[in-house]
Amino acid sequence: MSHRSTAAAVRMRAAVIGGSGQLGGWLLRVLAERGHDAAGTFATTAFPGLTPLDAADSAAAADWVRSQNPSVVFYPAGFTWVDGCERDPGKARAANVEQPLNLARAAAEVGARFVYFSTDYVFDGQDGPYAESAAPRPLSVYGQAKLEAEQALADALGDLLLVARTTWVYGPERQGKNFAYQLAKALSEGRSLPCPSDQVSTPSYGPDVAQAMVRLIEQGRSGLVHVAGPDLMDRVAFAQALAHSFGLNAARIEARTTAELGQGAPRPLKSGLLTPRLDAWLPGLMRPLADCLLDFRARLDEPGGWVRPLVAT
Ligand SMILES: NC(=O)c1ccc[n+]([C@@H]2O[C@H](COP(=O)([O-])OP(=O)(O)OC[C@H]3O[C@@H](n4cnc5c(N)ncnc54)[C@H](OP(=O)(O)O)[C@@H]3O)[C@@H](O)[C@H]2O)c1
Repeated sequence: MSHRSTAAAVRMRAAVIGGSGQLGGWLLRVLAERGHDAAGTFATTAFPGLTPLDAADSAAAADWVRSQNPSVVFYPAGFTWVDGCERDPGKARAANVEQPLNLARAAAEVGARFVYFSTDYVFDGQDGPYAESAAPRPLSVYGQAKLEAEQALADALGDLLLVARTTWVYGPERQGKNFAYQLAKALSEGRSLPCPSDQVSTPSYGPDVAQAMVRLIEQGRSGLVHVAGPDLMDRVAFAQALAHSFGLNAARIEARTTAELGQGAPRPLKSGLLTPRLDAWLPGLMRPLADCLLDFRARLDEPGGWVRPLVAT
Protein backbone atom coordinates (compact mmCIF):
# COMPACT_ATOMS: atom_id res chain seq x y z
CA MET A 1 0.00 0.00 0.00
CA SER A 2 1.32 3.46 -0.86
CA HIS A 3 1.46 5.83 2.07
CA ARG A 4 1.82 8.86 -0.14
CA SER A 5 -1.84 9.13 -0.93
CA THR A 6 -4.07 12.13 -1.32
CA ALA A 7 -5.45 14.19 1.52
CA ALA A 8 -8.42 12.92 3.51
CA ALA A 9 -11.91 14.06 2.55
CA VAL A 10 -12.80 15.55 5.95
CA ARG A 11 -10.33 17.94 7.51
CA MET A 12 -9.65 17.31 11.21
CA ARG A 13 -8.27 19.58 13.89
CA ALA A 14 -5.87 17.43 15.92
CA ALA A 15 -3.94 17.99 19.15
CA VAL A 16 -0.95 15.72 19.79
CA ILE A 17 0.24 15.51 23.40
CA GLY A 18 3.86 14.34 23.14
CA GLY A 19 4.61 15.64 19.66
CA SER A 20 8.31 15.54 20.50
CA GLY A 21 8.27 11.76 20.96
CA GLN A 22 8.72 8.93 18.50
CA LEU A 23 5.08 8.28 17.58
CA GLY A 24 4.02 11.87 18.27
CA GLY A 25 6.48 13.17 15.69
CA TRP A 26 5.14 10.80 13.06
CA LEU A 27 1.53 11.57 13.93
CA LEU A 28 2.17 15.28 13.35
CA ARG A 29 3.83 14.55 10.05
CA VAL A 30 1.12 12.19 8.79
CA LEU A 31 -1.65 14.56 9.89
CA ALA A 32 -0.03 17.40 7.92
CA GLU A 33 0.58 15.20 4.86
CA ARG A 34 -3.09 14.21 4.85
CA GLY A 35 -4.29 17.80 5.00
CA HIS A 36 -5.33 18.03 8.64
CA ASP A 37 -4.60 20.88 11.05
CA ALA A 38 -2.46 19.71 13.95
CA ALA A 39 -0.87 21.24 17.03
CA GLY A 40 1.67 19.36 19.12
CA THR A 41 3.34 19.63 22.51
CA PHE A 42 6.65 18.74 24.14
CA ALA A 43 7.55 18.25 27.80
CA THR A 44 11.37 18.36 28.00
CA THR A 45 12.66 18.27 24.41
CA ALA A 46 11.63 21.22 22.27
CA PHE A 47 11.22 21.09 18.50
CA PRO A 48 10.13 23.98 16.26
CA GLY A 49 6.39 24.59 16.29
CA LEU A 50 5.67 22.59 19.45
CA THR A 51 4.07 24.08 22.58
CA PRO A 52 5.44 23.30 26.07
CA LEU A 53 2.95 21.27 28.08
CA ASP A 54 3.39 19.22 31.26
CA ALA A 55 0.46 16.82 31.63
CA ALA A 56 1.19 16.71 35.38
CA ASP A 57 -0.06 20.32 35.56
CA SER A 58 -3.61 19.10 35.18
CA ALA A 59 -5.44 22.45 35.02
CA ALA A 60 -3.06 24.03 32.50
CA ALA A 61 -2.93 20.89 30.39
CA ALA A 62 -6.72 20.60 30.25
CA ASP A 63 -6.96 24.32 29.39
CA TRP A 64 -4.58 23.85 26.48
CA VAL A 65 -6.59 20.94 25.11
CA ARG A 66 -9.85 22.93 25.29
CA SER A 67 -8.17 25.99 23.77
CA GLN A 68 -7.27 24.01 20.65
CA ASN A 69 -10.93 23.22 19.97
CA PRO A 70 -9.79 19.87 18.58
CA SER A 71 -11.86 17.21 16.88
CA VAL A 72 -9.34 14.60 18.05
CA VAL A 73 -6.65 14.44 20.74
CA PHE A 74 -3.79 11.93 20.43
CA TYR A 75 -1.88 10.95 23.59
CA PRO A 76 1.36 9.19 22.48
CA ALA A 77 2.89 10.27 25.79
CA GLY A 78 3.26 9.20 29.40
CA PHE A 79 6.05 7.48 31.36
CA THR A 80 7.24 5.03 28.70
CA TRP A 81 10.38 3.64 30.43
CA VAL A 82 9.28 0.16 31.52
CA ASP A 83 12.01 -0.40 34.14
CA GLY A 84 11.54 3.15 35.47
CA CYS A 85 7.83 2.46 35.97
CA GLU A 86 8.71 -0.61 38.06
CA ARG A 87 10.84 1.58 40.34
CA ASP A 88 8.28 4.39 40.61
CA PRO A 89 4.73 2.98 40.46
CA GLY A 90 3.23 6.29 41.62
CA LYS A 91 4.72 8.18 38.70
CA ALA A 92 3.81 5.32 36.33
CA ARG A 93 0.16 5.53 37.34
CA ALA A 94 0.05 9.34 37.32
CA ALA A 95 1.55 9.66 33.84
CA ASN A 96 -0.08 6.65 32.22
CA VAL A 97 -3.54 6.68 33.87
CA GLU A 98 -4.46 9.89 35.72
CA GLN A 99 -2.96 12.46 33.33
CA PRO A 100 -4.46 10.98 30.15
CA LEU A 101 -7.80 10.61 31.94
CA ASN A 102 -7.73 14.31 32.82
CA LEU A 103 -6.91 15.25 29.22
CA ALA A 104 -9.51 12.85 27.85
CA ARG A 105 -12.20 14.50 29.96
CA ALA A 106 -11.12 17.91 28.65
CA ALA A 107 -11.29 16.55 25.11
CA ALA A 108 -14.78 15.15 25.71
CA GLU A 109 -15.97 18.54 27.01
CA VAL A 110 -15.33 20.01 23.56
CA GLY A 111 -16.68 16.92 21.77
CA ALA A 112 -13.26 15.66 20.68
CA ARG A 113 -12.28 12.04 20.30
CA PHE A 114 -9.31 10.67 22.26
CA VAL A 115 -6.59 8.27 21.12
CA TYR A 116 -4.57 6.37 23.73
CA PHE A 117 -1.51 4.18 23.07
CA SER A 118 -1.24 0.93 24.98
CA THR A 119 1.04 -2.07 24.75
CA ASP A 120 1.37 -5.85 24.47
CA TYR A 121 2.81 -5.64 28.01
CA VAL A 122 -0.83 -5.94 29.15
CA PHE A 123 -0.32 -9.68 28.39
CA ASP A 124 1.71 -12.25 30.33
CA GLY A 125 3.65 -13.62 27.36
CA GLN A 126 2.66 -17.25 27.91
CA ASP A 127 1.03 -17.82 24.54
CA GLY A 128 1.34 -14.83 22.24
CA PRO A 129 1.01 -13.32 19.74
CA TYR A 130 -2.31 -11.94 20.96
CA ALA A 131 -5.48 -10.73 19.25
CA GLU A 132 -7.73 -8.06 20.79
CA SER A 133 -9.97 -10.83 22.16
CA ALA A 134 -7.20 -12.34 24.34
CA ALA A 135 -7.44 -11.92 28.12
CA PRO A 136 -4.86 -9.47 29.51
CA ARG A 137 -2.69 -10.33 32.51
CA PRO A 138 0.09 -7.77 32.93
CA LEU A 139 3.35 -8.74 34.63
CA SER A 140 4.81 -5.27 35.18
CA VAL A 141 3.81 -1.95 36.73
CA TYR A 142 3.92 -0.40 33.24
CA GLY A 143 1.58 -3.07 31.85
CA GLN A 144 -0.77 -2.76 34.82
CA ALA A 145 -0.98 1.01 34.43
CA LYS A 146 -1.67 0.74 30.70
CA LEU A 147 -4.45 -1.79 31.28
CA GLU A 148 -5.97 0.34 34.03
CA ALA A 149 -5.91 3.33 31.68
CA GLU A 150 -7.60 1.34 28.90
CA GLN A 151 -10.45 0.46 31.26
CA ALA A 152 -10.80 3.86 32.96
CA LEU A 153 -10.79 5.69 29.62
CA ALA A 154 -13.37 3.33 28.15
CA ASP A 155 -15.65 3.91 31.15
CA ALA A 156 -15.25 7.69 30.88
CA LEU A 157 -15.40 8.13 27.10
CA GLY A 158 -17.34 5.30 25.49
CA ASP A 159 -17.34 5.68 21.71
CA LEU A 160 -15.14 8.78 21.82
CA LEU A 161 -12.16 6.53 22.63
CA LEU A 162 -9.78 4.67 20.34
CA VAL A 163 -7.08 2.57 22.09
CA ALA A 164 -4.21 1.26 19.99
CA ARG A 165 -1.95 -1.40 21.46
CA THR A 166 1.43 -1.49 19.76
CA THR A 167 4.85 -3.04 20.43
CA TRP A 168 8.58 -2.68 19.67
CA VAL A 169 8.17 0.61 17.79
CA TYR A 170 11.20 1.51 15.66
CA GLY A 171 12.07 3.80 12.79
CA PRO A 172 13.40 7.30 12.13
CA GLU A 173 12.94 9.42 15.22
CA ARG A 174 13.93 12.98 16.02
CA GLN A 175 15.20 12.17 19.53
CA GLY A 176 17.03 9.06 18.29
CA LYS A 177 16.15 7.00 21.38
CA ASN A 178 14.53 3.85 20.07
CA PHE A 179 16.17 0.41 19.88
CA ALA A 180 17.45 0.93 16.33
CA TYR A 181 19.48 3.96 17.46
CA GLN A 182 20.73 2.24 20.63
CA LEU A 183 21.89 -0.67 18.48
CA ALA A 184 23.51 1.55 15.85
CA LYS A 185 25.36 3.51 18.51
CA ALA A 186 26.64 0.44 20.36
CA LEU A 187 27.75 -1.49 17.28
CA SER A 188 29.37 1.47 15.53
CA GLU A 189 31.35 2.19 18.69
CA GLY A 190 32.54 -1.43 18.74
CA ARG A 191 30.58 -2.28 21.88
CA SER A 192 28.70 -5.53 22.30
CA LEU A 193 24.92 -5.48 22.57
CA PRO A 194 23.33 -8.14 24.77
CA CYS A 195 19.80 -8.96 23.55
CA PRO A 196 17.16 -11.29 24.98
CA SER A 197 16.80 -14.28 22.66
CA ASP A 198 13.69 -15.46 24.52
CA GLN A 199 11.62 -12.26 24.08
CA VAL A 200 9.45 -12.51 20.98
CA SER A 201 7.24 -9.81 19.50
CA THR A 202 6.07 -8.09 16.34
CA PRO A 203 8.27 -5.04 15.54
CA SER A 204 6.16 -2.08 14.49
CA TYR A 205 7.39 0.66 12.16
CA GLY A 206 6.61 4.08 13.63
CA PRO A 207 5.59 5.78 10.36
CA ASP A 208 3.16 2.91 9.64
CA VAL A 209 1.71 3.00 13.16
CA ALA A 210 1.07 6.74 12.81
CA GLN A 211 -0.40 6.29 9.33
CA ALA A 212 -2.74 3.60 10.65
CA MET A 213 -3.91 5.74 13.57
CA VAL A 214 -4.72 8.79 11.45
CA ARG A 215 -6.63 6.68 8.94
CA LEU A 216 -8.55 4.82 11.66
CA ILE A 217 -9.68 8.16 13.08
CA GLU A 218 -10.64 9.32 9.58
CA GLN A 219 -12.72 6.14 9.29
CA GLY A 220 -14.47 6.94 12.58
CA ARG A 221 -13.21 3.82 14.39
CA SER A 222 -13.46 3.50 18.17
CA GLY A 223 -12.71 0.87 20.78
CA LEU A 224 -9.59 -1.31 20.92
CA VAL A 225 -7.30 -2.13 18.01
CA HIS A 226 -3.90 -3.81 17.75
CA VAL A 227 -1.50 -1.91 15.50
CA ALA A 228 1.73 -3.86 14.92
CA GLY A 229 3.97 -5.18 12.18
CA PRO A 230 3.34 -8.56 10.49
CA ASP A 231 6.69 -10.23 11.38
CA LEU A 232 7.02 -12.29 14.58
CA MET A 233 10.62 -12.58 15.78
CA ASP A 234 12.88 -12.62 18.80
CA ARG A 235 14.93 -9.61 19.84
CA VAL A 236 18.21 -11.09 18.53
CA ALA A 237 16.76 -11.66 15.05
CA PHE A 238 15.33 -8.12 15.10
CA ALA A 239 18.70 -6.68 16.11
CA GLN A 240 20.46 -8.65 13.37
CA ALA A 241 18.01 -7.39 10.74
CA LEU A 242 18.60 -3.80 11.85
CA ALA A 243 22.38 -4.27 11.87
CA HIS A 244 22.40 -5.73 8.35
CA SER A 245 20.20 -2.92 7.11
CA PHE A 246 22.59 -0.28 8.47
CA GLY A 247 25.77 -2.08 7.37
CA LEU A 248 26.86 -2.74 10.96
CA ASN A 249 28.72 -5.76 12.28
CA ALA A 250 26.08 -8.07 13.77
CA ALA A 251 28.72 -10.28 15.40
CA ARG A 252 28.65 -8.11 18.50
CA ILE A 253 24.94 -8.80 19.08
CA GLU A 254 25.07 -11.26 21.98
CA ALA A 255 22.15 -13.59 22.67
CA ARG A 256 21.18 -13.79 26.35
CA THR A 257 18.19 -15.11 28.23
CA THR A 258 15.90 -12.62 29.97
CA ALA A 259 16.94 -14.18 33.29
CA GLU A 260 20.60 -13.45 32.49
CA LEU A 261 19.89 -9.83 31.54
CA GLY A 262 18.23 -8.99 34.86
CA GLN A 263 16.00 -6.21 33.49
CA GLY A 264 14.22 -4.20 36.17
CA ALA A 265 10.67 -5.11 35.16
CA PRO A 266 9.40 -8.54 34.16
CA ARG A 267 8.79 -8.88 30.43
CA PRO A 268 6.20 -10.95 28.54
CA LEU A 269 8.33 -13.50 26.64
CA LYS A 270 6.13 -15.13 24.00
CA SER A 271 4.36 -11.92 23.11
CA GLY A 272 3.53 -9.81 20.07
CA LEU A 273 0.24 -8.62 18.61
CA LEU A 274 -2.08 -10.09 16.01
CA THR A 275 -4.01 -7.44 14.08
CA PRO A 276 -7.31 -8.90 12.83
CA ARG A 277 -9.25 -5.65 13.23
CA LEU A 278 -6.61 -3.52 11.52
CA ASP A 279 -6.28 -6.08 8.72
CA ALA A 280 -10.02 -5.80 8.08
CA TRP A 281 -10.14 -2.00 8.28
CA LEU A 282 -6.83 -1.13 6.56
CA PRO A 283 -5.58 -4.25 4.77
CA GLY A 284 -1.86 -4.31 4.00
CA LEU A 285 -1.07 -1.03 5.72
CA MET A 286 1.58 -2.42 8.10
CA ARG A 287 4.46 -3.33 5.85
CA PRO A 288 6.85 -6.27 6.38
CA LEU A 289 10.09 -5.60 8.24
CA ALA A 290 12.26 -5.82 5.09
CA ASP A 291 10.23 -3.09 3.34
CA CYS A 292 10.23 -0.92 6.46
CA LEU A 293 14.00 -1.17 6.81
CA LEU A 294 14.41 0.07 3.22
CA ASP A 295 12.03 2.94 3.98
CA PHE A 296 13.91 3.68 7.22
CA ARG A 297 17.22 4.07 5.40
CA ALA A 298 15.69 6.16 2.61
CA ARG A 299 13.99 8.56 5.00
CA LEU A 300 17.21 9.29 6.85
CA ASP A 301 18.52 10.92 3.69
CA GLU A 302 15.53 13.23 3.29
CA PRO A 303 16.45 16.93 3.42
CA GLY A 304 15.65 18.30 6.88
CA GLY A 305 15.06 14.69 7.86
CA TRP A 306 15.35 12.81 11.08
CA VAL A 307 18.27 12.14 13.37
CA ARG A 308 20.69 9.93 11.52
CA PRO A 309 21.81 6.80 13.33
CA LEU A 310 25.49 6.04 13.34
CA VAL A 311 25.74 4.16 10.09
CA ALA A 312 29.01 2.43 9.24
CA THR A 313 30.49 3.62 5.97
N1 LIG B 1 7.87 2.69 21.76
C1 LIG B 1 7.30 1.49 21.89
O1 LIG B 1 7.88 0.46 21.54
C2 LIG B 1 5.90 1.40 22.44
C3 LIG B 1 5.31 0.14 22.56
C4 LIG B 1 4.01 0.07 23.07
C5 LIG B 1 3.33 1.20 23.46
N2 LIG B 1 3.94 2.41 23.35
C6 LIG B 1 3.22 3.60 23.82
O2 LIG B 1 3.09 4.50 22.73
C7 LIG B 1 3.17 5.85 23.20
C8 LIG B 1 4.24 6.59 22.42
O3 LIG B 1 5.48 5.90 22.57
P1 LIG B 1 6.83 6.58 22.06
O4 LIG B 1 7.84 5.49 21.91
O5 LIG B 1 6.54 7.46 20.90
O6 LIG B 1 7.21 7.45 23.34
P2 LIG B 1 8.39 8.52 23.53
O7 LIG B 1 9.22 8.63 22.31
O8 LIG B 1 9.04 8.16 24.82
O9 LIG B 1 7.60 9.90 23.69
C9 LIG B 1 6.91 10.20 24.85
C10 LIG B 1 6.34 11.59 24.70
O10 LIG B 1 5.66 11.93 25.92
C11 LIG B 1 6.06 13.24 26.28
N3 LIG B 1 5.91 13.40 27.72
C12 LIG B 1 6.62 12.80 28.70
N4 LIG B 1 6.23 13.26 29.91
C13 LIG B 1 5.25 14.17 29.67
C14 LIG B 1 4.47 15.01 30.50
N5 LIG B 1 4.60 15.02 31.85
N6 LIG B 1 3.57 15.83 29.93
C15 LIG B 1 3.42 15.86 28.56
N7 LIG B 1 4.14 15.10 27.74
C16 LIG B 1 5.04 14.26 28.27
C17 LIG B 1 7.50 13.31 25.83
O11 LIG B 1 7.94 14.66 25.77
P3 LIG B 1 9.51 15.07 25.87
O12 LIG B 1 10.27 14.01 25.10
O13 LIG B 1 9.55 16.43 25.24
O14 LIG B 1 9.86 15.07 27.32
C18 LIG B 1 7.39 12.66 24.47
O15 LIG B 1 6.91 13.60 23.53
C19 LIG B 1 3.44 5.77 24.70
O16 LIG B 1 2.24 5.93 25.40
C20 LIG B 1 3.96 4.35 24.89
O17 LIG B 1 3.67 3.83 26.17
C21 LIG B 1 5.20 2.54 22.84
